[in-house]
Amino acid sequence: MALPTPHGGKLIQAFDPSYDLTSVQKEISIDAIALSDLELIGVGLFSPLTGFLGQSDYESVVNTMKLANNTVWSIPVTLPVSYETADTLVVGEKIKLSHEGEVYGVITVSDWYEPDLKKEAREVYRTEDLAHPGVKRLFERGSVYVAGEVTLVKKPEKGVFGDVWLEPKETRALFEEKGWKTVVGFQTRNPVHRAHEYIQKAALETVDGLFLNPLVGETKSDDISADVRLKSYRVLLENYYPKKRVQLGVYPAAMRYAGPREAIFHAIARKNFGCTHFIVGRDHAGVGDYYGTYDAQYIFSEFTEEELGIKPLFFEHSFYCNKCEGMASDKTCPHGKEDRVILSGTKVREMLRSGILPPSTFSRKEVVEVLIEGLKEEATV
Ligand code: ADX
Repeated sequence: MALPTPHGGKLIQAFDPSYDLTSVQKEISIDAIALSDLELIGVGLFSPLTGFLGQSDYESVVNTMKLANNTVWSIPVTLPVSYETADTLVVGEKIKLSHEGEVYGVITVSDWYEPDLKKEAREVYRTEDLAHPGVKRLFERGSVYVAGEVTLVKKPEKGVFGDVWLEPKETRALFEEKGWKTVVGFQTRNPVHRAHEYIQKAALETVDGLFLNPLVGETKSDDISADVRLKSYRVLLENYYPKKRVQLGVYPAAMRYAGPREAIFHAIARKNFGCTHFIVGRDHAGVGDYYGTYDAQYIFSEFTEEELGIKPLFFEHSFYCNKCEGMASDKTCPHGKEDRVILSGTKVREMLRSGILPPSTFSRKEVVEVLIEGLKEEATV
């Protein structure tokens, strides 16, 4: 098996630090999510996208999970602006895209349109409920979408992520260098607990390498911060994973919490990183009880393997079983609920924030220590 070709055929490279900005007059300010999208388009993680979606692609993605040219694409990547800004737009003009006063990119406006946000919410998130963090953000962000090709002219500072902020062209080279023919990507927005470790290692029994690829873009406020999580990944890898078979690299996209549709989106981004396989466990990218436990697995059956070009590896809900004395799932464990160590993410975050140690059957001691320390430090800032 060879590393997959990027989605849509080629890795988009739209970074030009020497772009001449002097002739570009107009400037619009973009939020942190759009900045992250701009950067990820620029470095090819969202290949084949070359810019923010135009109306026909947008409608096609919302309705069919495909771009207008029939390439699978499940989440609209759009640039929302206000009506006032939209009133000033001209087709074909170039506009600087800035965030907190710094220019990061340039868009060449191709069109703009008023999206049907309720429809987008229903189709993409399967709910219009404003209590859903992705839907809430969708309605808050802006009423008109501006479309057009972008050039990334400056990359945002990487801070603590410097050594693990790898672009697709870099991860692809790394995987080749390591001689990995098969690589499984793992998405997470959480610390790696025992269940995560179990499914990663189960996958690693059959593929050459694991790409531990935690999402570090915007998450909802009660998720554990990326800085603290990063420390926990480092300590876990140091102590429990074979160095030669694991690569850590961050996934700097915003979390959408779109469950099934986001699982497809996540898989495609990992294909662009060069992964051949992608893990989808229970309630992937879910939040609350908006999605069924395995909806994010079922959605893969709507596409052919050729269309996706990355193979999903599905895992059942896993847990530590006191009777089995090991990690297990319904597929391998005959015991009942009373023997299983199952804690919700919310419960674990509560425990950690009040300094209570989750059991070592749920999370490795070294990980728990880092998390408690990190959360304490954050609370005092
Ligand atoms: S997610 O929003 O990034 O999907 P999380 O970090 O909890 O949330 O999950 C990372 C990956 O591990 C997802 O594929 C998810 O389905 C899977 N996963 C999380 N917990 C379990 C578990 N207990 N059993 C099986 N899979 C799990």
